[in-house]
Amino acid sequence: MAPAIQAENLVKTFGDVRALDGVSLDVPEGTVLGLLGPNGAGKTTTVRVLTTLLRPDSGRAVVAGVDVLKHPNKVRSLIGLSGQYAAVDEYLTGFENLQMVGELYQMSAREAKARARELLEWFNLAEARDRIAKTYSGGMRRRLDLAAALVVRPPVMFLDEPTTGLDPRNRLALWEVIETLVEQGTTLLLTTQYLEEADRLAHDIAVVDHGRVIARGTADQLKAQIGGERIEVVVHRADQAAEAVAALSEYALGEASVEKNTRRITVPVSGGARVLADAIRELDARSIEIDDIGLRRPTLDDVFLSLTGHVTEAGTEENDGAGKGGRGRGGHGKGRAGEDGKDGGSGRGPDKQAVTAGKEL
Ligand SMILES: Nc1ncnc2c1ncn2[C@@H]1O[C@H](COP(=O)(O)OP(=O)(O)OP(=O)(O)O)[C@@H](O)[C@H]1O
Ligand SMILES: [Mg+2]
Repeated sequence: MAPAIQAENLVKTFGDVRALDGVSLDVPEGTVLGLLGPNGAGKTTTVRVLTTLLRPDSGRAVVAGVDVLKHPNKVRSLIGLSGQYAAVDEYLTGFENLQMVGELYQMSAREAKARARELLEWFNLAEARDRIAKTYSGGMRRRLDLAAALVVRPPVMFLDEPTTGLDPRNRLALWEVIETLVEQGTTLLLTTQYLEEADRLAHDIAVVDHGRVIARGTADQLKAQIGGERIEVVVHRADQAAEAVAALSEYALGEASVEKNTRRITVPVSGGARVLADAIRELDARSIEIDDIGLRRPTLDDVFLSLTGHVTEAGTEENDGAGKGGRGRGGHGKGRAGEDGKDGGSGRGPDKQAVTAGKEL
């Protein structure tokens, strides 16, 4: 069966910035692809090309069997899109916004109203249905925009950072809505900076950085790729962090990362509980006080760190979330900071990459 979304070698430059540097991907029908990457990686640009909003400099894309560059209008009738920035009509009520979308897509008035009511329920907006969207909070607008993308039940959906700016309850609710859609056969491409979200929703994950897909696989495959477990230690005194890293280096398979703010040290290891017990003895022998210690499987955060040499950022323009539950991280993993200098236009530098997302719940 042909994939529902297919991109081959997409290139798009904006002046000096190579936003897409040869993106290729495919999404089999009825599955979810998570496009995961930090700010400026090229996620939105990929979505804009695939949804006909932007012409690439070169490359090819086919969505729902239709060539995106040759037949953009046809493609538009087969897709739903919810962009990174909510696009709702401020002066219509929530209900009217949804009803209008239905009527634009040739539903009868009756059908459009019924669908609007159903979606307002789904997205916890029923109480606010008769207020104009101008009075909605950011998270409410976001949900209304997502609801609008679902009015016509398109076979292929694109959601650009669907849960950014949503509180935990609404994020969970949206995950459930997305899961329902997928059960009903919708093919979905969603972008996210939340590793946990990709892990939960996506059958397959493409990690993008600097306009390229740098890794592809299921969450489990990506985790297996970097292997090992992690020992995580929170030291009581910040001035003992360096000594703790030294103590753990004996067991480490790779470089330790240190989050200065939280005094958390993470070290890749193998050998399970035995290594943990040895590590505790070693820390104790050196009189290092610890607040917490544990062993865990690698997360997608670790995958990202190991693939790119830097962690993901929580901050986006609409949700500058550095202080919003993101975890500070000091280290830059394998120290490929030199490569970051290549892409001057992305506005990312090693110093900004100190906060991870995805652990907010
Ligand atoms: N219209 C534009 N004009 C100039 N540069 C652009 C334009 N759109 C995107 N870019 C640049 O292309 C690169 C990729 O941007 P894109 O919006 O695709 O990133 P993203 O992965 O969606 O990031 P974020 O997580 O912040 O949404 C960035 O360096 C960005 O500054
Ligand atoms: Mg974006």
